[in-house]
Amino acid sequence: RSLRSAVARGSSHLARRGYASDAVPERKVAVLGAAGGIGQPLSLLMKLNPLVTSLSLYDIAGTPGVAADVSHINTRSEVVGYQGEEELGKALEGSDVVIIPAGVPRKPGMTRDDLFNINAGIVKSLCTAIAKYCPNALVNMISNPVNSTVPIAAEVFKKAGTYNEKKLFGVTTLDVVRAKTFYAGKAKVPVAEVNVPVVGGHAGITILPLFSQATPKANLGDDDIKALTKRTQDGGTEVVEAKAGKGSATLSMAYAGALFADACLKGLNGVPDVVECSFVQSNVTELPFFASKVRLGKNGVEEVLGLGPLSDYENQGLESLKPELKSSIEKGINFANKS
Ligand code: NAD
Ligand code: LMR
Repeated sequence: RSLRSAVARGSSHLARRGYASDAVPERKVAVLGAAGGIGQPLSLLMKLNPLVTSLSLYDIAGTPGVAADVSHINTRSEVVGYQGEEELGKALEGSDVVIIPAGVPRKPGMTRDDLFNINAGIVKSLCTAIAKYCPNALVNMISNPVNSTVPIAAEVFKKAGTYNEKKLFGVTTLDVVRAKTFYAGKAKVPVAEVNVPVVGGHAGITILPLFSQATPKANLGDDDIKALTKRTQDGGTEVVEAKAGKGSATLSMAYAGALFADACLKGLNGVPDVVECSFVQSNVTELPFFASKVRLGKNGVEEVLGLGPLSDYENQGLESLKPELKSSIEKGINFANKS
C-alpha cells in the first residue's frame, strides 16, 4: 500500500508540475556569442531552464550546429540558431532577456581592459541591434571589460532613445559564485548555505567581496579574509593561467550566467524577493555604475540595495577601487560617444 500511495503521490506531483510549467508565461531568451566557450554551455543550461519557451542562439558562425545539438534535448523551449549579421534582427525580435557573451577572452598576461579594443566595437554593434529589434529586453552583459561594456551599452541605448536603466545588467555573478566557494572552503561551512555579497565592479581590485557580511558566520582572522579577498579578485586570472592560452573561465561562467538569467526571468514572472548582485546604474556611491545587491522584478531592477555595514578593510577596498572603476566607466562612455 505504501508503494502504491508513493506512486500516486509521485504522479500527482508530476501532474502538478506539468500544469505549473504550462502556466508560466512565454519567454524568449537570446544568447549572442552562442557558439563560443561560454555561449555553448550557457545555451545548454538555458535549454534546461523551464522558464524559457524560445531560445535564440546567435553568433557570427557555428550556431546551426550548436542549435541542432541543443534542440534535441526534450525540454520546453524551441531552439533556433541564427548565423551572421543579416540574421541578428530575427534572433533578437521578441526577446525578453538577451545574454551577451560575445567577444574575445584573455590570454595569460592580459588584463580585462586589454580586451577593450576588440570587444567595445562588438558590444556597440550588438547593442545597436538590441535597441532596434528588442528595446524592452533585459540585457545581461558578460563580455569584458564589464566595467566599460555596460557603460558602452547604456550610451548606445541613450543615443537610440531606448535606454532604461532598470534593464541593463553587468553580470558579476561569477564573482559571487567564487566568493561563496572559497569562503565555504576556508570557513568549513556547507557551500550550499553560503551567501556573500560582492560589490564594485568586475576586474581585479574593483571586485570587492564583503566577507564581513558572509553567512553562515565564521570567525576568520584578518589574514584569512585578505587571502579570500585576493583569491576572489584574482579568480579570473587563476583560470586564465591554468588554461595557459586557451581562454578564460567558460564553464563556471556559463553556470553563473545561467543563474543570473534565471533570476531575471523569475523577476519578470513576478516571483518576489529575487535578489542578486549586478553591475548596474547606481546611486550607491558617487560612481554612475556600481555592482551591489539588486532586487529584480517585473521591469528588471526593482531596487538597488545599499552596501550595508562594511569592515575597515572593506571600506579601504571601496575607496581604493573607485579611481580604477571611474576611469573604466569613462573609457566606455567616451568610446560610445566618439565612434
Ligand atoms: P570565445 O572566444 O570562446 O567565444 C566568443 C564568441 O563570441 C565566439 O563564438 C565568437 O564567434 C563570438 N563573437 C565574436 N564577435 C561576435 C559578434 N559580433 N556577434 C556575435 N558573436 C560574436 O570567448 P568566451 O570564453 O566565451 O568569452 C567571451 C567573453 O566573455 C570574453 O570577453 C570574456 O572575457 C568574457 N567573460 C566574462 C566573464 C564575466 O564574469 N562577466 C567571465 C568569463 C568570460
Ligand atoms: C572571469 O572573471 O573569469 C572573467 O572576467 C574572465 C577573465 O578574463 O578573467
